[in-house]
Amino acid sequence: MASKTVEDALNYLFLHNTVKKDLQEGRVPVIVRGEGNYIFDEDGKRYLDLMAGNTRPNAIGYGREEVAKAMYEQAKKMHYYTPAFYITTPAVELAKKLASIYPGELTTTCFVCDGSEAVEAAFKIAKQYHYLANQQKRFKIISRQNAYHGQTMGALSALGFLNPMRNVMAPLVPGHAFLIPPYCYRCPLNLTYPACDLACADALDSLIQFEGPELVAAFIAETMMQGVGALPPPTDYFDRIRQICDKYGVLLIIDEVIVGFGRTGKMFASEHYNIKPDIMTMAKQLTGGYAPLGAAATTRKIAEAIPTFLHLHTYGNHPVCCAAALANLEIIERENLVANAAAMGKVFLEGLQELQKHPIAGEARGLGLWCALEIVKDKKKRTPFPPQENIISQLTLAGRAQGVIVRGMGNNALEFAPPLTLTRKELEEGLKAIDQSLYEVEKKLGY
Ligand SMILES: Cc1ncc(COP(=O)(O)O)c(C=O)c1O
Repeated sequence: MASKTVEDALNYLFLHNTVKKDLQEGRVPVIVRGEGNYIFDEDGKRYLDLMAGNTRPNAIGYGREEVAKAMYEQAKKMHYYTPAFYITTPAVELAKKLASIYPGELTTTCFVCDGSEAVEAAFKIAKQYHYLANQQKRFKIISRQNAYHGQTMGALSALGFLNPMRNVMAPLVPGHAFLIPPYCYRCPLNLTYPACDLACADALDSLIQFEGPELVAAFIAETMMQGVGALPPPTDYFDRIRQICDKYGVLLIIDEVIVGFGRTGKMFASEHYNIKPDIMTMAKQLTGGYAPLGAAATTRKIAEAIPTFLHLHTYGNHPVCCAAALANLEIIERENLVANAAAMGKVFLEGLQELQKHPIAGEARGLGLWCALEIVKDKKKRTPFPPQENIISQLTLAGRAQGVIVRGMGNNALEFAPPLTLTRKELEEGLKAIDQSLYEVEKKLGY
């Protein structure tokens, strides 16, 4: 019997991306409370959240009074004023704080509501920059196969895999092209790193040539890709990408919406690869999920070339969200959570590597507290399970029965992105539960 809340949700609420049958058949928990790194459903069942809120924003754990108080105080003092024509102080304070921690030469930030809007703002910065530099023909955006950049129209047009939403919303924004990804476990060119000499990065050169160098505004790339499950690139990949972008005057947009603010064991994942983005997008861990906020930042050079940034969202620079971000960043720094993500991430990855003993566990990979385990039907041949076998959903449900929240990426990978506050004890509890879920699903499948 579905609970009253589930029944009401069925009748009155559009749950994002959720199959109604799962609701009807009781597979969608009602989450009512969070404490530390645990969440609780309406029946009081406790889960260790190895997915930081599932979409991965939660950096500092649940129930942080300090953030709630900062939001309350700001809401009392000045909850809202427009982001255009007037200045509100939390946005300025936050922009200045971010400029002090950004990688490369980024200085200047535009605040929006989420990651998709951050990507839209990044495209607008790139296009306005070129437009004002008498390069009005540059309208094309190149992203990558398997890329995910969000669900608004521009971001969706840069989506590099089949998603039913693409068909529903077609035609998408014209002028998007897709580079092959640096997916070494299943190399699209059937090559092996480093003997490949980064052929997948070099393909950007020929793609820009094909698209017309004078027509391309920007190349957008996630530092680590999420589409196939937490995929770090080869260490020298972005050096090659930067060189090619510079050769053609194409701006490099780095999408740090998931990885920004400590997830990979550095404040920004760009620091692992010494990337100097022209524009960078952020969201999620910027507020730890306590309030909706996204951001697109650019360099002094680009910002100074745009005398009026043509962009307006009612909730841009929102004072309460900026106050939440400031309190969240304060906690990340004070509690050394970036270092904790690096230390716990190393142990987590070692634990996942041990789980490769399972017949269906392929590659384990990750950086900091963002890891993935490829799930394969045939380990030697790296064959994925056919989608109709729903292997990822079986594993996710088995994990939930064990009291941990994990998530799948596509049909091929289990993903792990716990809050940065994860302790060693919780980590061990999580790995044990993942181990057990793998055993149970394998037993059912006759391995
Ligand atoms: C790399 C990346 N960019 C952009 C987005 C879109 O962010 P949002 O869902 O906040 O709109 C996401 C969301 O997961 C993402 O992973």
